[in-house]
This record gives sequence, structure tokens and C-alpha cells, in this order.
Amino acid sequence: MESLWRQTAPHIPDDPSAPPKGSTIVVAGAGLTGLAVATMLHRAGMRVAVVEARSIGAVTTGNTTGKLSLLQGDVLSRIRSHAGDEILRAYVESNRAAQEWVQRELRPVQGVIAARPAVTYTVSGDRVTAIDRELSAAQAADIPVERLDRPSREEFGVPFDVVAALRLDGQFQLHPVRLLAELTRRLRADGVPIVTGCRLTDADVDDHGVTVKTTRGEVRCATLVLATGAVPLDRGLLFATLVPSRSFVVAYDLPREAAVPQGMFLSLDEPSRSIRCDDLGGARVLTLGSGAHPTGRVERTSDLLSELDEWARSSWPGARRRTWWAAQDYRSVSHLPFAGVLPRTSGRILAATGYDKWGMTNAVASALRVAGRILERHEPWADALDSHHAGMADFGEAVQANASVGGHLVADWVRAGVAPVSGEAPADRHGRVVRRGMSPVAESTVAGVTRRVSGVCTHLGGIVSWNDAECTWDCPLHGSRFSPDGRVLEGPAVQPLSQAEE
Ligand code: FES
Repeated sequence: MESLWRQTAPHIPDDPSAPPKGSTIVVAGAGLTGLAVATMLHRAGMRVAVVEARSIGAVTTGNTTGKLSLLQGDVLSRIRSHAGDEILRAYVESNRAAQEWVQRELRPVQGVIAARPAVTYTVSGDRVTAIDRELSAAQAADIPVERLDRPSREEFGVPFDVVAALRLDGQFQLHPVRLLAELTRRLRADGVPIVTGCRLTDADVDDHGVTVKTTRGEVRCATLVLATGAVPLDRGLLFATLVPSRSFVVAYDLPREAAVPQGMFLSLDEPSRSIRCDDLGGARVLTLGSGAHPTGRVERTSDLLSELDEWARSSWPGARRRTWWAAQDYRSVSHLPFAGVLPRTSGRILAATGYDKWGMTNAVASALRVAGRILERHEPWADALDSHHAGMADFGEAVQANASVGGHLVADWVRAGVAPVSGEAPADRHGRVVRRGMSPVAESTVAGVTRRVSGVCTHLGGIVSWNDAECTWDCPLHGSRFSPDGRVLEGPAVQPLSQAEE
């Protein structure tokens, strides 16, 4: 599995060197947030280095659906109900600023950004009130959306009947990995190091700066920026207010006679559908996204992928699957991104996360907030977002999120205790957590190779669960993910699962 964007972007070279010993700013993470903040700070004359645990765009940015839109499903009405109109307008302003930054930086670069209308729709009469709620929120934020009642199939270029929709013209779809390739090329041409395969493992803050510990040695800097999606080294329990989820994305080659969607679509139905279409090297490629499922908490993820695939084949007969992949997102209980100083770090460690599946606008908006804070440049929308404090509804969600996290921890330990190791290898592409003595062991077989690693997540001790579509071990607590041999793939964990004793 490899995303369409990674398959169709120029190769971005790795840099396996050690990070430079002294920089003013170290940015951890070479996705869109990390490279955008590095670009902004480098332009302002700061000495910046970027460290990336895997390769550039390997995690969320390389796996997104790549929509740079102000119309974002039901996000506006959710923010409005949690934080009110003033914060909603600040959020929309932040996303507008992000759109402008991307357009200014990347519009001249071929094949990175294309204007498209954004459409939020429903195929069910039961969801029309949700469409109208979103319309009202968009109007409160001065977004000029158009409400459409039963638009024709031809108008939208889709092979199904839409009951109600909102349309916003002048939005953009991105090729996210070409975008990263361009930002990387410019930064490296200017001498900014972006080292890859170098994982952040710890950081010590003192009166003069930060000692950043990585798998390739230590680095000193004045400020560390965590642009890693999940937040490792989280001393303020930020992770407890983030809800991780995954979504599947499948790309299809469309036959010549197929309906071609005229825009970027997102449904408010259950399951939700995300749709976009691209012309890539003369081929018309349809990209479909599934609704989100909670990381590590679905029994058979392969069923979700099959369900999306069946819908695609019945709606677009003759569509040929080209590739599929999955992306992880984090939603904060306030429904707003976090971009600021991590508590108990004397202002020296900043982080950005919680983009709630809208990572193209929110990554750049958060980069603008983080860079603005470091450079002491104040935007009114950033000040408003920074000063927003979670309300009672948010606390209610945090309690709920943590209660279910606690349940998983205890319940999963107990469950691990009742299934002793049998010595029999799982079937191919299967995995299970069993018990050896009192230790949970995660055993799996992939491509005929059976491996046994510890079943205890190295972040805070959750019991991992098998993701049969992706053949990974996923932690249901805060979304850390590991390969069958225990390597960290993403999430707040920084240490691999240990090998289980034979
Ligand atoms: Fe936190 Fe696993 S991700 S315990």
C-alpha cells in the first residue's frame, strides 16, 4: 500500500546524515506543518534544522485526501457549537491565511494546486438539518456558500442522487507530496538540513535552551517545534485530549465513459464519503475516502476497506483500483487545532496537532501560529485562537474520551490474560494478543513470517490490537502504531515494541 501522491510525485531523497549540532530551531517532522514552519522561520533569518523519523511525507501529509477548503464537512457547525461565533470566525480566518500562503508559495509550480468547488452533501433526507446547520455556521463566518436542493447528477458529475448540498467555489485540491517535494527542494537549496530516518526520543529543557535527543545523537537548540501529528514528549497530557482515528483512501482509474465528479465532495452521511478526481499523466483518477474509525478499536478493518471498494465498483462500473492507503488524524476535544507552547517546557517546546482531518489548511494555519509566536508577530485570529479556553462541553468530551481509554486499558489486559500462547502460528495476515506467563505477546504472520513482540504499547502501556487491513499493531489508547516486528510507525510512542522471549 502506497498513496497515489507518493506514487506520482518526484522522488524526494533521504538524508541519512546526523542533524547539525547547533541550530536556533529544531523542527521534528517533515510533513506539511514541519516544512511550512521551517520555511517561515528560515525566511525570517533563523537557523533551522528539520529531523524526520521516517521519510518526507511518510505519515499524514503523504496520505491525506489533499483538500485545501474552507467548506469542511460539519466542522464549522461543530466549532460554532463548542466555541461560539467569534472563535469560529478566527478559525476560518486562520484557514483563509493558510490558503493564501499555499497559493502564494505554490501556485506557479506545475501540478501542485488546482482550483475546484468544494461540496458538502447528503443523500439522505434525515441529514438535511445537518446541511442547514453547516450553512448557518458558514454564513456566520462570512463564507459565501450556495445551498442546493436535489441538484441533478449531471450538475455534480456524480452517479448518485443528492438530496441537499452546499457548494463553495474557488477552493483547491492539492497534490500533497509534490507540495512537500517543492518545499524540500527550496529549503535544501538554501542550506536548511532536513535529515530523515532520525527519530526524536527525548528532550531536556534548561535555562538556555533544549537538548534534543534523537536516534542519531543529541542536538542543542533554543526552541523545539513538534510537528509530528501525535505529540511525543508530552508533559502536559495533551494526548489525553486528542482522539486518534484512521480513514481508508482508495484511488481508481476511471473508464472513459464514467461520470467525472465536478469538485471535491464530502458527505455528511453514515458512512461518510470523500470524493475527488484528478488528471494524472492523462489518466482520470478517482480518489475516494471512507469515514473515520477509531484507531485500534475496530475488530476487522479490512471490512471497512471492502465496503468502500464495493461502493466504488457499484457506483462507477469499470473503475479499476490503482492503489489504497490509510491516514491517521487527531481531533481535539475542543474541535480546534492546538498550536502553541507545551505546558511545563518554559516556552521552549511548541507543538501543532488536532487538525480533525483538515490537515492541508490547518497544517499551514498552525505553522503560521507557531512561527508567529516564535517571531513575536501577532495576528488577531491567532491571538483569538490562542486565548480560547475549553468549555464545559469540551470537558465532557475529554472525560468521555478518557473513560473509554481507561476501559480499553483495563479490559484489554484482562482479555490478554485469558488467552495463553499455543505455539501455533496465526494464519497469514492475521494477528492476536496472547499471554506468556503474565506478559501479553502480540503474534502475527505476514507473508509467511511469524513474529512475536510485546503486546504492551511503549507509550503508556495500552494493549495493542491487530489491524488486519494494514497488518500493523495499533494502540487503542492514543493511536501509536507499530509494524509486525515492533518498529514505531506513528503516534506518541518513541520506542519500539520489544521482542517477545521465545
Ligand atoms: Fe498511549 Fe499506546 S499510544 S498507551
